[in-house]
Amino acid sequence: MRQGIFSLIFALLFSVGCSQCNEAEEEESASNETEATEATEAEDTPEPIEAIEPVDVNMDKVFLGRRLYHDPILSGDGTVSCASCHSLDHGGAEPRATSTGIGGQLGPINSPTVLNAHYNFRQFWDGRAEDLQDQAGGPVENPIEMGTTFPEAIERVQADEWYAERFAELYADEGITKETITDAIAEYERYLITPSPFDEYLAGNEEAISAEARRGYETFKEVGCTACHVGVNVGGTMYQKMGLVQDYFELRGGEITEADLGRFNVTGEESHRHLFKVPTLRNVADTAPYFHDGSQEDLAEAVRIMGQVQLGKELEDQQVSDIVAFLESLSGELPEHARLPEDEQPPSRATGDAADPAVEHPETGEAAEETLEEG
Ligand code: HEC
Ligand code: HEC
Repeated sequence: MRQGIFSLIFALLFSVGCSQCNEAEEEESASNETEATEATEAEDTPEPIEAIEPVDVNMDKVFLGRRLYHDPILSGDGTVSCASCHSLDHGGAEPRATSTGIGGQLGPINSPTVLNAHYNFRQFWDGRAEDLQDQAGGPVENPIEMGTTFPEAIERVQADEWYAERFAELYADEGITKETITDAIAEYERYLITPSPFDEYLAGNEEAISAEARRGYETFKEVGCTACHVGVNVGGTMYQKMGLVQDYFELRGGEITEADLGRFNVTGEESHRHLFKVPTLRNVADTAPYFHDGSQEDLAEAVRIMGQVQLGKELEDQQVSDIVAFLESLSGELPEHARLPEDEQPPSRATGDAADPAVEHPETGEAAEETLEEG
């Protein structure tokens, strides 16, 4: 009952919020709502979070995408791959506040996880990419991420025998193009779905998560986190203001950066200032630091800040630790073939003296830790 009232209050609150969204978004959230309602009715469950299901994928494309994802061949100086900033050993994100791209250049924003990203209604913090394929083109040509152009990258891929063969088999008509490269990478990302103990709990196995985590889930719903972190991804269904009830940026201190403006950078609409896609909380216990600015190292502290700036609530210590236990139960298993096998590791591709050991071996935790300390 209590939960019903909360949902109602938040539904009202957010229908006001959405009068700020533009028409396209309104349509989108309307269709999302319809889908959500249908799903709920079909399963006859009142839970705001749905269990995750693997997506049907073409495994040959997944294997091609997997290698491209881990291969610095797509970067201008041969030192940076997707995995440099989205490490499978770090919950699909990176252990740095903001990304380091080619030539060690520091990016403006924290890298979100690629795990389960398929389930997000849009990609990027500000939603500027429609879907995974649209997104995958971005970093390659971003001057401070991978810093190359597609014609150049395609030439390098074409010259590699392994790739030339695979593309000829899988994309016989199209060949190696921006479309087919991003299609294969997106297929791999669609495969990166991580069912967790919490999904088992949702399926009816009470014991799949600890008593603390179960309490934490109830608290998560009661205090109102599910107003924003809902659906199969515990997020990824809407934009919301960072600092809905209390000014987050004042609390954080420091200059307001361009990245802090969020959705405003895409639409130029005043009411979109500081709006961000609500991030997924799946695997969140593995993806520190937190928030778009990577300003928060500690998950408990991030939860406390959320209570404060999004809900106007000072959460008690017990509530915070219970919620953290619940969030930990959202850490899932990588699918069996997610990791690149040893014998498929791409050769070193570094050109010139730009090689940085920390980004050259993105999947080794130690190198990443060093970068964290330096930065
Ligand atoms: C230099 C670091 C870096 C590299 C290399 C990089 N990314 Fe990212 N990625 C980021 C950052 C930072 C963001 C967030 C940018 C934003 O929202 O403005 C991001 C966002 C994303 C997202 C959106 C997730 C979401 O929830 O919105 C996906 C998916 C993604 N990257 C996949 C890839 C793929 C695939 C590659 C390789 C082709 C790649 N990234 C290369 C840093 C990087
Ligand atoms: C009004 C909507 C809203 C509510 C309510 C809300 N959140 Fe969030 N949450 C967001 C947004 C938006 C972000 C991203 C903000 C940013 O990075 O600047 C976020 C980010 C987070 C993050 C960091 C995720 C990451 O990968 O960096 C955590 C953890 C989190 N929320 C947990 C919670 C918890 C726990 C609650 C309830 C106490 C809660 N949130 C309530 C909208 C909300």
